Formats: sequence, C-alpha cells, structure tokens
Amino acid sequence: MGKQDLLDLLREYRNASEEFQATSYWKAYEKEILKIVSKIDFNYLRSGRYPRLASFGFADGIYSRRYTPWKKAVLKIFRIKEPQVTPYYLTPEDMQEMAFHHCQLVGRLNDAKSLEDISVSTFGSPGGVFTVNNNQYTVSFLNYYLRYCFAHRHIKFTGKEVIVEIGSGSGYQVEILKKLYPEITIICFDLPAQIYLCERYLSEALGNDEVVKTNVTLEWRDLSLLEKGKVYCFGCWQVPLLNELEFDVFWNAASFGEMEPDVVNNYLGYVKNRAKWIYLLQKRHGQKTTGRVHVKQPITLAHYRAMLNGYRLIEEQSAFSSINKMRGDYFEGIWRREYV
Ligand SMILES: C[S@@+](CC[C@H](N)C(=O)[O-])C[C@H]1O[C@@H](n2cnc3c(N)ncnc32)[C@H](O)[C@@H]1O
Repeated sequence: MGKQDLLDLLREYRNASEEFQATSYWKAYEKEILKIVSKIDFNYLRSGRYPRLASFGFADGIYSRRYTPWKKAVLKIFRIKEPQVTPYYLTPEDMQEMAFHHCQLVGRLNDAKSLEDISVSTFGSPGGVFTVNNNQYTVSFLNYYLRYCFAHRHIKFTGKEVIVEIGSGSGYQVEILKKLYPEITIICFDLPAQIYLCERYLSEALGNDEVVKTNVTLEWRDLSLLEKGKVYCFGCWQVPLLNELEFDVFWNAASFGEMEPDVVNNYLGYVKNRAKWIYLLQKRHGQKTTGRVHVKQPITLAHYRAMLNGYRLIEEQSAFSSINKMRGDYFEGIWRREYV
C-alpha cells in the first residue's frame, strides 16, 4: 500500500463520470488534502499535525483551537499562556469519564454490545487517549459508538449483516462496528485520498487480513470475490458494483449533506430497494451555501424523506456526541424498507 496505489486511485477517479466526482464543497478541499496525503507520515496521522484531515473524521485531539497567525504571534511575543477555563472546575479527565459513563448507559438502554469489550487503536498517535479497565478510548471513538447504539435500537445487529457506507472518511465507524461484531461485512466507498487514508487506518486498527484494500478492488468489475466477514474499500465511482448486491444496512454520516442533490440521488439509486435499513446522520437544514466551502443546493431532512420513497422513517432524533449536542443541527434517522 504505497504512493502508487494513490496514483492509481486518482487516475481511475479522474476517468470516472461526473456524478462520481466531488462537488463544490469537497472540491474546495481537494488540492490541500492531496498535498497532505502525498507527504503524510502515518505515524502522526491522528496527532493533530494534519488538522485538515479532521474534516473527514481524523479528529482526536482534546483541544483544537485555531489561532490566526496574528494571535499566535502576539501570544508568542508577550509569552502569554492562556488559562484553560472550564465551568465547574471540569478537567479533560472529568469529561472523558462522564462521556464514557454516558455511553455505557446509552449502550445498556439500547441493549447494545458493551463498550467495555473494545479498545480504540492508537495507530497514528491520537491525542486524548484515556484508559478504563485496561482498555483505551478517545472521545471521538465514543461518538461513533453512540451512532451505533441509535442504529442498534432498531436494527438489532446480530453480526451477520452486510453494511454499505458511502463517505466512510476516517473509517472510525467501521472500526467500532467491526470490533463489536468481528463477523460483520462492511463495504466502504469514498473519494480517492480519503479511501486511501481510511484503508491504511483500518488495516492497522483491525489487522491487515481483515481489510481488502483498493489495490485489490480497483480492478473488480463485479462483487463475485466478496467474502463475508471482511471490510472492503472502494473508490466512490465503483458504487455501481452494488447493482448485484442485496444488503442489510446502508450508512451515511455527514457526507450526503456535503454533496449536491443530483449526486445523492444517483448514489441512492444504487442503494434503494437493496438495503433493508438506512442510517443517515445529516444537517437538518442542509449545509451552508456561502463561504469558501459550501454546497450549491442544501439538502434538508424533508428532501431525504422525499428521496427515500419506499422506506419509512422509523425514528429521528437530534444527534449528540458523547460530550455535547452536535454543532450544526444534525439529526440521525433510521429508515426501514416498506416491503421485506
Ligand atoms: C464530513 S466527512 C464524514 C466522514 C464520516 N462519515 C464520519 O462521519 O466521520 C464527509 C465524507 O464524505 C465524502 N464525500 C464527499 N463527497 C463525496 C462524493 N461525491 N462521493 C463520495 N464520497 C464523498 C468525503 O470524502 C468524506 O469522507
């Protein structure tokens, strides 16, 4: 898995048709992300050295304050150390313990697999790792556990499911699901640089043999070689391979909302009627339409409801991380196919 694999992915992506290309929101990040990825030191993937990668999930640090160059200079010149001010004398350790405790309770309420059985990978030097009963966690790991708990309330995972995720980002959701259910099958799709990092991370977090990477799947013209119980990584232009597959769950978190409606409709065309369940975590009123990074047409919850004809929205709720309500008015929702 090396630079040549990234170049191969980029070549195939550039030859793919328009509906599989990044739209305005992610085009704005494209050059910057590629520059980072082409020179990345994987040992520091999650250390905070590459803050831009937080835009698709590699966000593990405790503090992510960004200062303007001016403010940095002033702090340096006058040797000002900013006091860390939190209400109720809270320390990061308090927040981590409360977040863990909260997730434990949510897990129990939803009859979910226990958080205490799993541990986060420390590959890439993540910030904010803490230990409970000899297992390691990050707040970010807990956040993805909560998403699983909400989905599990309805889906009742057994571990035999086939899950498809478009826009997997860092792969943190996959890490949670696969660690809780070692026999589950997960098929991930994303833009080239993102899937390249995701597969590298997951190979380290889950073990190399568990992950079938794009240097194998890039040439696939169908899914006949798919074996149950593994994680598969694909470029997003390979989504049409799903044409042959019936699967249990389709998963999309904070990704459709950053595309344009026609692109989402195209992806959903390969998902609808093939997936029994659909999990979405998106902005209730859509992404912003101004600024450097923006969408042209926001997609709201009402749009998803209309797009998912043939499915019934079983439950939707405001989305929470393990320490706060997600900023940006996100909802998470579960849809079930109307016919079995
Ligand atoms: C905000 S990140 C979310 C990542 C992950 N789902 C999570 O919750 O952490 C959005 C993801 O959508 C992916 N994405 C954006 N546009 C896409 C497109 N046109 N096709 C496929 N994936 C896309 C990005 O590459 C990125 O991984």
